Amino acid sequence: MRRKLVVANRKMNGNLSSNKVFFEGLLAGTQDHKNADYVVCVPHPYLFQAEAMLKGSLIAWGGQNMSRYESGAYTGSVSPGMLKDFGCEYVIIGHSERRQRGHDTDLSTGERFEVATNAGLKPIFCMGETLEEFEDGLTDIVTIRQLNAVIQEIGMQGLAKGVLAYEPVWAIGTGRAATSEHAQNILSFLRGHIEILDAEVARNIRILYGGSVKADNAAKLFSMPDIDGALVGGASLNTEEFVALCQAASQAKSN
Ligand code: PGA
Repeated sequence: MRRKLVVANRKMNGNLSSNKVFFEGLLAGTQDHKNADYVVCVPHPYLFQAEAMLKGSLIAWGGQNMSRYESGAYTGSVSPGMLKDFGCEYVIIGHSERRQRGHDTDLSTGERFEVATNAGLKPIFCMGETLEEFEDGLTDIVTIRQLNAVIQEIGMQGLAKGVLAYEPVWAIGTGRAATSEHAQNILSFLRGHIEILDAEVARNIRILYGGSVKADNAAKLFSMPDIDGALVGGASLNTEEFVALCQAASQAKSN
């Protein structure tokens, strides 16, 4: 059984006081909704606050990126060990906002995935095509290429230690979410590809959908047999909306 997982990607938003309101709202709002798992990925400076407020609760926290290196002369970077020091369980890897600005490539995401799992972090690995690639019918080719780059680096047992997220670039922050049918088709295609390589990994690995997920489209997405949850950007900035989304995940059937 794959429990639903909802991940807040707060991006470069929030401050001490708005984070406090968010964490308090989330703690209260998920108290009676324990049938799903929740993660908040906050900017690095606020990991200490997430740890202080969420430790011992149902809600885990994580970074939005990390270095491939453990230490050294990498000005401005944060290592996997540093994320672990602040109690992170997860880290987002290969988000399109980092791929598009040249910070991440297929090769570097594979390396980051491996380094994260070696440090005991669970990578949330993002894949997805641009609008142009979507319109050219290249979704399958692009997502498989991105996924294979990781599999090549770490193998199926390594892959099993992470979570996957299909995030079409054209749906991120645009209000134009993929239809639940489109998302289901791609996730089923990706799971099918994994199944050929390792049926057990395919059965157990959680694959999320991300891109303009809101409280009003969440239940439909969560009802799909291959959609195991959501990676949520904009809607995680509104506590009430994000809590509603988490509750929808808890009410949905596990896949
Ligand atoms: P969005 O962002 O929910 O605002 O579309 C999703 C993401 O970037 O992970």
